[in-house]
Amino acid sequence: MLARPNGTDIWRQPDHPERAATSAEDDPVDADEAEEFIRLFHAEHPEAGDVARRVGWVRAEIGMTGTYQHTTAELAFGARVAWRNSARCIGRLYWRSLLVRDLRAVHTASDVARQCVTHLRLAGNGGKIRPVITIFSPGAPGRPAPRIWNEQLIRYAGYPAGENPEHGSPTLGDPRYRGFTSAVLARGWRAPATRTAFDVLPLVVETAREGPTLFELPRDAVLEVPIIHPELPWLAELGLRWHAVPVISNMCLVIGGVPYPAAPFNGWYMGTEIGARNLADEHRYDLLPRVAEGLGLDTGSEATLWRDRALVELNRAVLYSYAAAGVSITDHHTESRHFLMHVDREHRAGRRCPADWSWIVPPVSGSLTPVFHRYYDTDRLRPEFVLDPVSAHRGQHGGPAQFRAEDRRAPGHRDVWNHIDPMRRAI
Ligand code: ARG
Repeated sequence: MLARPNGTDIWRQPDHPERAATSAEDDPVDADEAEEFIRLFHAEHPEAGDVARRVGWVRAEIGMTGTYQHTTAELAFGARVAWRNSARCIGRLYWRSLLVRDLRAVHTASDVARQCVTHLRLAGNGGKIRPVITIFSPGAPGRPAPRIWNEQLIRYAGYPAGENPEHGSPTLGDPRYRGFTSAVLARGWRAPATRTAFDVLPLVVETAREGPTLFELPRDAVLEVPIIHPELPWLAELGLRWHAVPVISNMCLVIGGVPYPAAPFNGWYMGTEIGARNLADEHRYDLLPRVAEGLGLDTGSEATLWRDRALVELNRAVLYSYAAAGVSITDHHTESRHFLMHVDREHRAGRRCPADWSWIVPPVSGSLTPVFHRYYDTDRLRPEFVLDPVSAHRGQHGGPAQFRAEDRRAPGHRDVWNHIDPMRRAI
């Protein structure tokens, strides 16, 4: 069951600065953006009836209430097209298959947390991962939407390693979440008695009434894969593991001008995300020196390409381990081909397919994949997933962020990224 640790009460003070920055729901929805979406929906669903009638209704509803309700069909289409428009995602061939959970009626912290757990079970599906999005209450004027602070539903804690760090690393666990980890510890999270490099962080769900509240994920909702290697038995002894399902939980889904700040979504992993980034980046688990040591490589000179050789074996280990555990995963060669099929299909359907080369090209063997050898449309299309600076900050650091309230009020604003280091790539 979900536990609710003590110690969160101090965060319920109504005048806490965090509270001031949660008012996206108070701004009226842009009626032109709403109309643009309704027209797109009808263009792709000729059977949906009279578009002028629906546009008139939506405009009237916005005039009277400041916002409007999507139909279930509009909501599902909006979520799928937001995925289709995600310029950084190489896995978009499957955008139509997204399972959309319409949970707009859910708004209390404990119900949000419970439904996140259900999301994990549905998406995990015993290893045969299903792409799922759960859309929680968009809020209403005077009642802000719930927000999930975590960057993903499942992420591992990062602790200061203390006096005698093993292998010289200053962090036990994932250094990316050191700030988030100390923030949840300060809010009463009880880390496991014996801390490990792979302790699952608690969920932090914030609502206007309850403030941020912590919830422990039940162990059996967190599907994980131990990392082994087809030929190198010592690699298993490093005790590495990774979670099966990446569920991004701090991006705002914007459909036809309506922001849905709590709308966690997942696909399945491409191996390089884990093997070439999470486990390999120097500012993450930084494992290449240990893998190179195991392989007996000469690390004295860069020219031996010891990093590259260790990287390939680590990536083989990830792909092999997920397959051995019966958990869906894809490799970067296959997925690159699939992505170009998707671009081609989109063009044949008369649509542009926005893509960001620097995110689409995989972090290993770029030029071995066909996505490397061309450019892409770079226009930004709606509906879309956006990450505002406050959520981006909280996803990593947990605590309050010093941003202007205007930043929070503009989930679709084009310049929001300027407030965080625009030259630094996120995960
Ligand atoms: N790169 C992120 C991670 O390593 C996950 C991003 C989403 N990835 C996906 N395959 N849907 O956890």
